[in-house]
Amino acid sequence: MVNLGRPKALSVGAGRRERIGKSDWRYILMKVLIIYNSVFGNTEQIAQAIGNALGPQENVEILRVSNVKSEQLTGLKLLIVGSPTQGGRPTPAIQDFLKNVPEPAIRGINVAAFDTRASTRWVGIFGYAAGKIADSLKRNGGILIAPPEGFFIKGKEGPLKEGELERAASWAKAIVKSKK
Ligand SMILES: Cc1cc2nc3c(=O)[nH]c(=O)nc-3n(C[C@H](O)[C@H](O)[C@H](O)COP(=O)(O)O)c2cc1C
Repeated sequence: MVNLGRPKALSVGAGRRERIGKSDWRYILMKVLIIYNSVFGNTEQIAQAIGNALGPQENVEILRVSNVKSEQLTGLKLLIVGSPTQGGRPTPAIQDFLKNVPEPAIRGINVAAFDTRASTRWVGIFGYAAGKIADSLKRNGGILIAPPEGFFIKGKEGPLKEGELERAASWAKAIVKSKK
């Protein structure tokens, strides 16, 4: 391979250089990674709305939790994790992810958490998924940059209440702006 020396800083977004050989460097574009789970599709819609809101400015990747591979947890500028609330908690797949995620992947990384939840007030006695996700990310050394947020659905399976996709987009823009 022709050694062109160290690449100059690229002008596309924030990134960092990582040494991959004696004199070879790889440029890693820092990304916003959104990891979600969804049973009936509502949380997936929120994850997409968040990704679309950030997409034009940021390097965004949206992954269903079952598709996450450890090498995708590198070069993170912000990790956002979202889950449906089930029994006051994230789904088992999100809980597994949080339990098994390698700590170095999250240490010192900006993190945020969201959930979807029923609008009926009494379910609140069990708590919600987002707070538990945020606590777990913080325990692994993540830097929580926004309070955990919940988005409301109608009934038990959705659809989302009116205006929630727009609220998700605004939430995402606000948290990224707060770090600029
Ligand atoms: C088994 C089960 C348990 C649930 N428990 C709660 C709960 O404790 N609190 C709540 O607000 N909503 C609860 N819900 C409603 C879910 O939050 C709702 O199905 C979810 O937001 C839909 O997201 P999804 O379409 O991405 O799966 C529950 C739903 C199911 C199916």
